[in-house]
Amino acid sequence: MNFDRMARWYDRFMNWRDVSPIRIKLNNARIIIDVGGGTGVISQKISKDVIIVDPSQGMLREAKKKGMSNLVRGVAEYLPFRNDIVDAVICTDALHHTQDPEKSISEMIRVTRPGGQIIIEEFDIGRWWVRLFVGVIEKLAVMKPQFISAEKLTEIFQREGYRVEIEPYTKISYLAHIVL
Ligand SMILES: C[S@@+](CC[C@H](N)C(=O)[O-])C[C@H]1O[C@@H](n2cnc3c(N)ncnc32)[C@H](O)[C@@H]1O
Repeated sequence: MNFDRMARWYDRFMNWRDVSPIRIKLNNARIIIDVGGGTGVISQKISKDVIIVDPSQGMLREAKKKGMSNLVRGVAEYLPFRNDIVDAVICTDALHHTQDPEKSISEMIRVTRPGGQIIIEEFDIGRWWVRLFVGVIEKLAVMKPQFISAEKLTEIFQREGYRVEIEPYTKISYLAHIVL
């Protein structure tokens, strides 16, 4: 999907999520990266200091207009950070857009310090109507989403030895919270 093309319109449709459940979990994390953070629609409500990592120049341009200044053009599969360097990773509505979600998760784990946390929002495809709804929308938009159910996400992190807390987020998505 070409996020560059939809960048200017993106927030009109996506600026409705309540960020407080994410902000509360972040507590006093200082170094936060927003993987696939796009226009910064979520991270701008957390802190202007959040580092957005995204491959779309158009989306990053929109983030810059909001005053977000820590912008990194890159992909989740190869995060351009040292090991154990960040206090928290957030990744909302983006993991299923990556070409390799499992590699992206292992990169999130690699860059997060012990005791740090990872917060992921994904569509709750365990519910059939969510699967139908987002599947149709994203297929119409010529995306090739690789949706990850809460069960699958839990299994991936458990394999790495981490416990995952899952909670409902929006009507169509869940939040996964992992403390390393
Ligand atoms: C639906 S938007 C989500 C933006 C924002 N996180 C939000 O919650 O609204 C998906 C974002 O994932 C980005 N993206 C696509 N492939 C990616 C990859 N391999 N690594 C990181 N981000 C990617 C897109 O450029 C886009 O900005």
